[in-house]
Amino acid sequence: MEFMYEIIQKAHSGIAYLALGILVFAVINAFLAISSKRGFEDKDRKISLFALIFCHVQLLLGLVVYFVSPLGMAALGEMSNAALRLTSLEHPLINVIAIALITIGWSKHKKEESSNGKFKKIGYLYLAGLLLILSRIPWNLWF
Ligand code: HEM
Repeated sequence: MEFMYEIIQKAHSGIAYLALGILVFAVINAFLAISSKRGFEDKDRKISLFALIFCHVQLLLGLVVYFVSPLGMAALGEMSNAALRLTSLEHPLINVIAIALITIGWSKHKKEESSNGKFKKIGYLYLAGLLLILSRIPWNLWF
C-alpha cells in the first residue's frame, strides 16, 4: 500500500501541472475566439477534449489517492485541522464538482450550432471549473 501510495501520489501531483496547463490554455483559447468571432475548428475541439481527458485522468488518480493517502479519507475525522480538512474534504469535493462542470461544458458545446455558442459553453464552464480547482489546491504540499 505504501508503494502504491507513493506512485499514485506522485502521478497525481505531476499530472496536475499538465491538467491545469491545458485547462488554462483551453479557457484562453475559447475567450480569444469569442472576442475575435472566429470559427470553431478541429484544433479547438482537440484542445477542449485534451483538457477534458486530463481532468478525468486527474479525477481517477485523485480517487485512488483519496483511499490510500493518510491525508485523504483517513483524515476525515480531523476537521478542526485546516490542512487536513482541505485534502480530505474540500479539495476532493470541490474538484469533483469542478470536473462535472467541465464535463457539462464539453457535452453542451456539441449541441450548439454556432461557433460562438460552442466557444461560450467551453469558455464559461471550463473557466468555472478552473476557478473552483484553483480555490482548493493544497499549494503548500505541491511546491
Ligand atoms: C483537476 C483536478 C485536481 C487537481 C488539479 C488536483 C491537484 C492536486 C495537487 C496539486 C495536490 C498536491 C500534490 C502534492 O502533494 O504534491 C493534490 C493532492 C491531493 N488530491 Fe488532488 N487534484 C485534483 C482532483 C482530486 C480529486 C477529484 C480527489 C479525490 C477524489 C483528489 C484527492 C487528493 C488528495 C487526497 C490529495 C492529498 C494527497 C497526499 O499528499 O497524500 N484530488 N491534488
